[in-house]
Amino acid sequence: MNCVKVVLVGAGDRARTYAQLALEHPDKMEVVGLVDPRPEAIIVGKKLYNVPDEHCFSSVEEFLKYPRFADAVINGTMDNLHVQTTLPLLDAGYDVLLEKPFAISDEEVDALCESAKRNKRFVMICHVLRYAPFYNLIKRQILAGKIGEIINIQMSEEVSYHHMAASYVRGKWSSEKLCFAPMLLAKCCHDVDLMIWFNSDTVAKSVASFGSNFQFTPERRPAGSADRCADCKLEPDCIFSAFKHYIERGTWGQYVWTCFDGKDEPTREDKINSLKGDNQYGRCVWACKEHDIVDHQSVIVNFANGSTGTLNMVGGASEGVRDIRIVGTKGEIIGNFKKQKFVVQTIDPDDEKMFKTEEFDANETSDIDGMTGGHGGGDLRLAADFIDYLQTGKSSIACTEVNVSAIGHKIVFAAERSRKTGEVVDI
Ligand SMILES: NC(=O)c1ccc[n+]([C@@H]2O[C@H](COP(=O)([O-])OP(=O)(O)OC[C@H]3O[C@@H](n4cnc5c(N)ncnc54)[C@H](O)[C@@H]3O)[C@@H](O)[C@H]2O)c1
Repeated sequence: MNCVKVVLVGAGDRARTYAQLALEHPDKMEVVGLVDPRPEAIIVGKKLYNVPDEHCFSSVEEFLKYPRFADAVINGTMDNLHVQTTLPLLDAGYDVLLEKPFAISDEEVDALCESAKRNKRFVMICHVLRYAPFYNLIKRQILAGKIGEIINIQMSEEVSYHHMAASYVRGKWSSEKLCFAPMLLAKCCHDVDLMIWFNSDTVAKSVASFGSNFQFTPERRPAGSADRCADCKLEPDCIFSAFKHYIERGTWGQYVWTCFDGKDEPTREDKINSLKGDNQYGRCVWACKEHDIVDHQSVIVNFANGSTGTLNMVGGASEGVRDIRIVGTKGEIIGNFKKQKFVVQTIDPDDEKMFKTEEFDANETSDIDGMTGGHGGGDLRLAADFIDYLQTGKSSIACTEVNVSAIGHKIVFAAERSRKTGEVVDI
């Protein structure tokens, strides 16, 4: 297969992120079709990739009725649509690059794995962090045996206060009832996936978890605050001011300004008016009535060989940071994803310090192949690996095939059950 012809199913932000490969490396990928019920998404996609009208569809069913014109599909629909839109694509013989979380229940996980196996199709899940040079390099040190057998993995993810507000309080993932994914699944299925990838000599056995919504409760709402920032006398001093986050600082535009998709580029005035109007991102973070998810959660995983892993997710920190510490029988790996640096510190009784240290800087490798960008350079590398697999049949060490990703998702579902019941849950 030469240049792989793909169709974007759910032609929103994420599908377009992976399709950037087609714009930067047209020899690898071409976007030849779009499936999206939102006319604005079709307008944007047609313009970006030069897709003809006859290859634009409003549903997967409509697309599958048309004579085949593509090799593969990138599915960037929202969490609860992943399985229902992918099953007919697999039956029709397409290989699929599918966004995470790829399923929202154990039943959905099983249905997708069964269909991929039965149809002999390749389903790759967008666990992009495996492709970030930082984590990829860590995996290589583990494979090289530098720290011996893994005894314990400690991971933490702090979600910044502006990311928390945009995505998990005001935005698309604020309610499990609306997006069908708890925060651990929406935000941390990457981290759980990394944990099982690093500890791949064994399998997860049981899980315990605690967590709650600490900050965004009615009791913590500042006295005198209004339901919208535009009407609030506390807004000038509020750390969650929508005007400061989305206009002054210009963050999270891919979510906040989707109301302008398919229209002319909004001016500053348009954006201010939108926040003053009915834009959901103009709401006070304590007045988002649908909000029902945790803002912090801790997970402990017990593995079959006796090793353990912990993950602490805390939303509302000053900046988004991921830390990792992996302790093995011969030494440790200690790293900070934000800084893109880690050290491998190994036991050495012959050394004066009784250990030796090797330093790694993923910044130095991150543009080796001209692929930088989101998730520490992981987004485009993952898309390129999907294409490479289709072209050569060879998978890389990072390849996130659906059966493997299924284990991480099952750990997340078990953690949620544990958090809600207070019990240790077997996988
Ligand atoms: N890998 C990552 O790190 C990462 C990061 C952010 C989001 N995500 C995931 O990516 C997915 C997409 O998020 P997004 O921010 O791009 O969302 P989005 O809303 O920008 O895109 C989703 C698109 O799907 C379309 N759609 C809705 N119903 C459809 C249907 N039946 N058939 C086809 N298309 C349909 C929508 O109109 C929309 O254009 C989510 O599952 C999200 O959790 C993954």
